[in-house]
Amino acid sequence: MVIAIDGPAGAGKSTVARAVAQRLGFTYLDSGAMYRAVGLALLERGGAASEVAAALEIELGERVLADGRDVTEAIRAPEVSEAASKVATNQAVRAELVAKQRALLAGGDWVAEGRDIGTVVAPDAELKVFLVADPAERARRRAAELGVPAETVLRDQALRDAQDTSREHSPLRPAAGSVELDTTGLTIDQVVDRVVDLAAARRA
Ligand code: DC
Repeated sequence: MVIAIDGPAGAGKSTVARAVAQRLGFTYLDSGAMYRAVGLALLERGGAASEVAAALEIELGERVLADGRDVTEAIRAPEVSEAASKVATNQAVRAELVAKQRALLAGGDWVAEGRDIGTVVAPDAELKVFLVADPAERARRRAAELGVPAETVLRDQALRDAQDTSREHSPLRPAAGSVELDTTGLTIDQVVDRVVDLAAARRA
């Protein structure tokens, strides 16, 4: 079974997807980490984005490895967020990463998280969830995570939201048949419970 969880940055996707995967004994796929790994590689050594995406060996698990190097922390830097958002507008890069994601999702039970899992990567997923939250709350959550002022996050977030929703290829939008879940004012546990309940209903 594949559970697709999409939505904007800060809606709680990573935390929720990780927790749902743990509860159900599924494997967690953080597709954003792939775009981040490509963004980091481009910042560090340049080159053609599509070639870097095709050649880069990305391993996801407890740690994120790029060509064997542990980049788990490095890919979370603000400049890498920006580079990832930019590289995510490149159709050739998307095609490479989508193929890698589909190959992973072909076997076993997964909770896959990103922007286009329900629309492009796994449109046949048994459960598609689109997480949303009030922008100010999303910025507050990110700020607390990163230990930086919420105003700074809010500015960067608005920029990335605009980039992610307005790009030509695979813009961020709810997939057909997805369940929209507003996480504003909900605890992580409440959101996780809801997704687990939905998954149980789909499985039955
Ligand atoms: O979820 P995240 O912040 O780690 O994602 C990093 C960037 O990659 C973000 O700008 C959106 C983009 N992304 C994407 O375009 N498609 C995905 N499936 C996952 C992430």
